[in-house]
Amino acid sequence: MKRTNTCGELTKKDNKKGVTLCGWLNSRRDHGGIIFIDLRDRYGITQIVLDPKHDKEAHKKAEHLSREDVLQVKGKVRLRGKGLENPKLITGDIEVIIDDLEILNKADTPPIEIDQRIEINEDMRLKYRYLDLRKPNMQKNLRIRHTAIKAVRDFYDSNGFLEIETPMLAKSTPEGARDYLVPSRVNPGKFYALPQSPQLFKQLLMVSGCDRYFQIVKCFRDEDLRADRQPEFTQIDVEMSFIDEEDIYTTHEELMKQIWKKTLNIDIKIPFKRIPYDEAMDKYGSDKPDIRFDLPLIDVTDILKNSDFKVFTDNIKSGGVVKAINVKNSPLSRKEIDELIEFVKIYDAKGLAWIKMTDKGLESSVVKFFSDAIQKEIIKKMDAKKGDLLLFVSDHKHFIVNDALGNLRLKLAKKLGLIPKDTYEFVWITDFPLLEYDEDEQRHMAVHHPFTSPKDEDIKLLDKHPEKAKAKAYDLTLNGVEIGGGSIRIHKRDIQEKIFKTLGISDKEAKIKFGFLLEAFRYGAPPHGGIAFGMDRIAALLTDNESIREVIAFPKTKSAESLMDGSPSEVSEKQLKELNIKLDIVKK
Ligand code: AMO
Ligand code: AMP
Repeated sequence: MKRTNTCGELTKKDNKKGVTLCGWLNSRRDHGGIIFIDLRDRYGITQIVLDPKHDKEAHKKAEHLSREDVLQVKGKVRLRGKGLENPKLITGDIEVIIDDLEILNKADTPPIEIDQRIEINEDMRLKYRYLDLRKPNMQKNLRIRHTAIKAVRDFYDSNGFLEIETPMLAKSTPEGARDYLVPSRVNPGKFYALPQSPQLFKQLLMVSGCDRYFQIVKCFRDEDLRADRQPEFTQIDVEMSFIDEEDIYTTHEELMKQIWKKTLNIDIKIPFKRIPYDEAMDKYGSDKPDIRFDLPLIDVTDILKNSDFKVFTDNIKSGGVVKAINVKNSPLSRKEIDELIEFVKIYDAKGLAWIKMTDKGLESSVVKFFSDAIQKEIIKKMDAKKGDLLLFVSDHKHFIVNDALGNLRLKLAKKLGLIPKDTYEFVWITDFPLLEYDEDEQRHMAVHHPFTSPKDEDIKLLDKHPEKAKAKAYDLTLNGVEIGGGSIRIHKRDIQEKIFKTLGISDKEAKIKFGFLLEAFRYGAPPHGGIAFGMDRIAALLTDNESIREVIAFPKTKSAESLMDGSPSEVSEKQLKELNIKLDIVKK
């Protein structure tokens, strides 16, 4: 080894010890002849001292060093002078007086600062990711992610799960995004799809009797990217035989408990809260409600259907709703309310009506349309007190009202500082609808995926009212983020075929796409179910980051590019020819 210790471990008890350290020059200060260097590696920072009186040669070499040079130094640990200790560093009580310095490698001036306190444009960070990752906070993110993944593996291992790898080159899976395709050279004109998830394979492993499977696995989805979505991301993927929903809940509450304990030494409370999908949408306007704060959506349709405000009554007549939020003791100015009106428009709301409870009575843009009796009922239903601000959205589409107010709720909570720090509110969302109607495609689509089992009592609804059927599907959410989702699967061929039919998937199409699964189901498929968690999202929550890019070593940009290696990139004519591909409709 080129070193005896790391830069993050020497303390008082090592006083007078002879050591060799290696690392990068983090900073250098010249104090009238004596040079102080902060030497950095993954483990921390150690102050080293080059004193010409102690060793002339080493000091001379140090005069021409610059940031990020790679050094090996030999010397002796000594206590720092009184008052010069740095309590922020583990090594803050000591320094190493150097008698031999070797420059292992000179560095050019780095194009980005290796200093987490300095804000750097993200494109630059991604272009020089290998330098960005030198920053202690990024090292910490990688370390926490590693610890979490280890906790996951240990947990499943000690509970009898097998980690089994499934193919990366396979057939298209039905998770609802676009596939990344890989052309097959030896099968001209044919393509593999990179897995959007190992869904079909893990179900087949249950048919194989593997009983309890897990895999920490890369998944690929060509979809619109956001802070919490990457084109390639990591799932903790699980499947279990002979179980029902309860087994998934209890097993994975224990998993989360273990992850939080091992990474942050935090004891999270189990069992988690459960909220049925309909209630989540109704009360929070979202199927991933952040319940760290209250601010519920209140349905006032029944009260306002008799008002004179035509916007509301017209919407209600065409099947719509009016819902509202009470901002308790609102500090919001007129200008800020106007900003909120603009904000809800992002979510296609046509407006935001408001009523302020003041000393002088109700102050509002719409109160003239509400009779005294209606005003009283509103005040009662919304528990409105002096100083409160009531915000209303109405639309003939329920979804728009929920989406606009759900997002307004989140915005207000942030703006008004209603979100407590360091709280982890896990919620299982249960009783999802099985299907949703797709207006564009004019047919029903599976909300989760087509292998999700309907609730037993709802199978009879499939013929006449498929949209009313609920699924044995669940999501796990944490602080308003969907961290996982799964379902109990259909294991009987006749029900699977019925679902395909309801989804408008013909026998022929089903055979082409999932024939192998349907065939497997003929040979004794056990009842089974599973779930998959977004590892990147979990790591982001553990490290208190908004974007999963912070916890992925080499992420892609929002336009699915890697600025560092320049992928995706053009390929040679020869490569294309070998793959039997001709690019004659490429858009520039
Ligand atoms: P689902 O599609 O809900 O389920 O995915 C499971 C979890 O994966 C995470 N996730 C993502 N994370 C980052 N970037 C993305 N583009 C992305 N897409 C999804 C989310 C999500 O909750 N096969 C089913 C699981 C099952 O039924 O067992 C599946 O993939 O946290
Ligand atoms: P208008 O009559 O269009 O000027 O609207 C009067 C008030 O009602 C304004 O404050 C609008 O923002 C609000 N408003 C209009 N449409 C809606 C709607 N669909 N839901 C809630 N408020 C609305």
